[in-house]
Amino acid sequence: MAIHFSNIKEFIGTRVSWDDRADLFTPEAATAIRAKVEERTVLVFPEVDLTDDEQLKITELLGPKVRLTGKFNVQDNNEDVYQVTLDEKINPQPEYVLGTFFWHMDGLSVDMPPPFATLLSCRIAPDKGGETEFCSTYAAYEGLPDDDKQAIEGLVGVHSVRASLSPIADAIPEKHRERVMGIGGGMEREHPIVWTHESGRKSLVIGTTTDRIVGMEVPAARALLIRLQEWAAQPNFSLRHKWKKGDFVIWDNTGAMHRAIPYDKSTGRMMHRTSIAGTEAVAA
Ligand code: OGA
Ligand code: MN
Repeated sequence: MAIHFSNIKEFIGTRVSWDDRADLFTPEAATAIRAKVEERTVLVFPEVDLTDDEQLKITELLGPKVRLTGKFNVQDNNEDVYQVTLDEKINPQPEYVLGTFFWHMDGLSVDMPPPFATLLSCRIAPDKGGETEFCSTYAAYEGLPDDDKQAIEGLVGVHSVRASLSPIADAIPEKHRERVMGIGGGMEREHPIVWTHESGRKSLVIGTTTDRIVGMEVPAARALLIRLQEWAAQPNFSLRHKWKKGDFVIWDNTGAMHRAIPYDKSTGRMMHRTSIAGTEAVAA
C-alpha cells in the first residue's frame, strides 16, 4: 500500500497522497485513513475526483454509512449521497445549507449517536467564498485554562434544529418560517458540553445547534457558549480549506466543528456528502 500523509498544521489537518489511485480503496487503506482521521481530525485528498460510487466505497470501508438528510433529487444520484447546494432546483430546502455558515457538528439534534465522520467531495468549486473551516474540539478542550475546564465540567447543552436555524430565520419567507424552524417536531436533545470519549480523551460539544445550558440563565449561558466557540475557532486549533474541483475531505465529526464561509448561489458551489455512523453517544 502506498498512501502518504503530511501534516498541514500543528494541531489539525493532514494531506493525503498516493502512488496509485487504487491504493485508496483497500481495507488496509481504510484502517490507516480511519486512524489518521482520529489522530489529525481533518484529512484532505487533493483533486482525487471521486465518483459517487467511489465515495460510497471509501465511506463503507471506513464504517457503516448513515443518512443524515433526505435526498431530494433521487433519480440522478445515489440516495446515500446528499448534495450540498443552494440551487433550489436540486435542494428545495436551502435553509439547511444556509445553516452550515455557522460553526456546528453534524447530527447533534437528531436521535442517534453523532456521526463519526463526514465526507465531502467538491463537484463545483466556488470562485468566491465557500471555503470550509474546521476546528479541533479536542485541541480546544485540552488547551483551555484549568479554571475554565472546571467551570464547564458537568454542564449540559440543549440542542435543536430551531437553534441552528435561528441565525437565518429572518431570511426564511415568513409564510414558511414556522414550518421550517419546527422541522423535527421541535425536538430538543441534551448533550454534555464536555464529552469524555471511550478513549478517555475529552472534547467540547458546542456550536450553533446549542440553544442554552441546563440550569443556567440564558444570557450567561449564551455568552459562555460564544466564548467557548471563539476559543475553539482560534487559528491555532483551526484550518480553512479552499476547495478545488475534485478535492475530497474527511473529518472527525466527534472531535471537530465545521462551517462554510458564506457563498452565493450564483457560484454554483456543489458538494457531495456522505456520513459514517457514530458508535458513541456524547457522554460526560
Ligand atoms: C454539511 C456542511 C459544509 C460545507 O454538509 O454538513 O456543514 O462547506 N457542509 O458545505
Ligand atoms: Mn455540517
